[in-house]
Amino acid sequence: MSELLIANNILLLLFAGHDTSSVTLTLLIKTLAEHPQVYQNILQEHTEIASSKKEGGFLNWEDIQKIKYLWNVISEVMRITPPILGAYREAIVDINYAGYHMPKGWKLYWNTGLTSLDPEIFPNPTRLEPSRFEEAGPAPYTYVTFGGGPRMCLGKEFARLEMLVFLHVLIRKFTGKLLIPNEKFIYDPMPTPLQGLPISLQPHNY
Ligand code: HEM
Repeated sequence: MSELLIANNILLLLFAGHDTSSVTLTLLIKTLAEHPQVYQNILQEHTEIASSKKEGGFLNWEDIQKIKYLWNVISEVMRITPPILGAYREAIVDINYAGYHMPKGWKLYWNTGLTSLDPEIFPNPTRLEPSRFEEAGPAPYTYVTFGGGPRMCLGKEFARLEMLVFLHVLIRKFTGKLLIPNEKFIYDPMPTPLQGLPISLQPHNY
């Protein structure tokens, strides 16, 4: 590999591996402050998981598999505000689709929000409904927050693990209050709070 290719891959890993999960956690903190019932449901799920362990015991793989509701909430937050808006593909053969001709070699851009915010696929698309991810969840290729096919996100399971563990610890210790209600997010290039999402953390009284 050339030096440029190595540098390119390192930058991809830093960007793909850090910014994606950190913006998702930021969105989660905002969402939970705005949806106290969802926060309470998560707290209940995680109090139960923690109480089945020895005091101070680390989460193990079996515990992670029990975390269903929180992952549904994270998935729903990423459906409404996908951390990555889309990616490029190159047509390796001529493609004819829906009356459009895309010659071999053309660059194509697929967009996460086109399906995940389509009201025909997800009714009331901007409404937070974690139950959309229960059982089999959305139909294949309608929720492509992690992409799809052979080039889909390489770090999906790692991202799931780190976000679940981080929120398991945070939610059991604190509730968060937004210091700037309705703070605006812009894509830059990932969803970013304009004023840094200042919050006040209140420890639980137990
Ligand atoms: C919330 C977290 C994350 C989201 C939403 C996300 C999303 C995505 C998306 C949409 C793609 C493009 C997939 C495609 O073209 O079909 C991608 C690719 C990739 N992601 Fe992630 N990602 C996340 C976390 C991570 C983490 C933690 C890592 C590494 C530790 C990672 C590494 C990669 C790599 C290496 C690729 C390129 C895969 C390839 O081209 O073969 N991602 N990710």
